[in-house]
Amino acid sequence: MIILGVESSCDETGLALYDSERGLLGHVISSQTEIHDKYGGVVPELASRDHVRKLVPLFEKLLSNLAIKIQDINLISFTNGPGLLGPLLTGAAFAKSLAWINNIDAVEVDHLEAHIFSAMMSEKNLKPPFISLLVSGGHTLISNVDSQSRCTIVGKSLDDSAGEVFDKVARKMGLKYPGGPEISRMADKISKSTFKFTRPMINSNSFDMSFSGLKTNVVREINKLDLNEDVISDIAYDFQECVIDILIKKTIAAARFYTQDTIAISGGVSANKKLRDRFKKESGEIEVFFPSLEFSTDNGAMISYLGYLKSKNKKSADLRIKPSPTSSLF
Ligand code: KG4
Ligand code: ZN
Repeated sequence: MIILGVESSCDETGLALYDSERGLLGHVISSQTEIHDKYGGVVPELASRDHVRKLVPLFEKLLSNLAIKIQDINLISFTNGPGLLGPLLTGAAFAKSLAWINNIDAVEVDHLEAHIFSAMMSEKNLKPPFISLLVSGGHTLISNVDSQSRCTIVGKSLDDSAGEVFDKVARKMGLKYPGGPEISRMADKISKSTFKFTRPMINSNSFDMSFSGLKTNVVREINKLDLNEDVISDIAYDFQECVIDILIKKTIAAARFYTQDTIAISGGVSANKKLRDRFKKESGEIEVFFPSLEFSTDNGAMISYLGYLKSKNKKSADLRIKPSPTSSLF
């Protein structure tokens, strides 16, 4: 069975083909970072217009790269939400029209759930149950995934997501969008920092987190300083440590509480090298898995893979276009 995945929830247009026997056949992606860079964040209308421009050419490229015909596709899996409404509509309209015209089943999938299971594509030893940390631009969630792959959220950021704070702090220091890779690049230039920012809620009695106090603390410091490369690295270093300290402490505490011996970390921030290294070092007996770097940030492959997992339940979508800006996990 061949599944087409379509991702368009934010600023990446991603398409992929997944074969139930052979695994991922290939994927194509078009990122809009250059379009949104000068605004310091994603502009929804510009994002929608770019998806409209890219979806069909990318689909044709994917088919020709893999020498596959539309008739070979058995299921179309597309992101239904959460995300920006306009971008979601473009992907849903494309996926459902293609399904309807060619008489192919379609299945709508949740973007957050797709991130949560994304590490299973490359890590064959990773299987539910596990604790998931999903840390992206829009969400910071800890979920308990049971052996039936049901996800229960057990902790979340009560304010900004970690990725959003990476982006905002980077912007404040004049770095490019998206801010995560830029902060990480600047932090990697040094091996310790003179700053000691606040780590909100790190010792609280729950798996919930907070990042907005950290953002305010860092922004106040920035306002007092004359920025140059060295100062930016100094700030970036301790800021990154703070975020990682909070994520590690809460996720490992959740794994211990729910007696899980496996953690899977996904979403854009999971591409962070320091986060990966520290999680592996500090998790003790708990095994930690990540998606391959290519599939940490938004992509069509994880959507095709979740479509494959859902297809085992044989639930097809009806053909009304009804993207949802909220997640079915809440
Ligand atoms: O999962 P994703 O691609 O999109 C959403 O669903 O939100 O995540 C994007 C987020 C952005 O905030 C970006 O700054 C962050 O992931 N990110 C990183 C890194 N690469 C991307 N954050 C920290 N370190 C990175 N290397
Ligand atoms: Zn995402």
